[in-house]
Amino acid sequence: MNNIIIINGPNLNLLGSREESQYGTVTYEELKDKCADKAKEIGVNLEFFQSNIEGEIVNIIQQSIKKHDGIIINAAAFTHTSVAIRDALSIFKKPIIEMHISNIYKREDFRQKSLISDISTGGIFGLGTNGYILAIISIQKLINNEN
Ligand code: DQA
Repeated sequence: MNNIIIINGPNLNLLGSREESQYGTVTYEELKDKCADKAKEIGVNLEFFQSNIEGEIVNIIQQSIKKHDGIIINAAAFTHTSVAIRDALSIFKKPIIEMHISNIYKREDFRQKSLISDISTGGIFGLGTNGYILAIISIQKLINNEN
């Protein structure tokens, strides 16, 4: 069975109560459960991780090099600032999906630059929290070379 990880960056633990117009009403716990259900349905081992701390995200990416076959990452605000997260992802030579709940290209200028898009296999943005479900389905196909 493929092992995948969803890595969430700062403030995503507050989903459901945070800027509902951008991020919707699904809570972090509900999202985690929905992702777990989809992973079970399609037969993939899923780890779900969140941290507000940049270094912890770098550490989990480094650990994923040995443990996981694919990474789905919503680096949140670190998307726009973190060379360290970009560098760690660059070492991971397997499929990476960049995930954003909102359409970052329709928002403030500073959100329209992602430091991880060009080293990701692909990306999903602007589709709300449903994007996570699409990302799980897609990464399974990428890992299995079914694309
Ligand atoms: C986000 C977009 C980022 O710009 C923002 O800092 C987030 C969430 C998204 O999922 O739409 O925290 O990554």
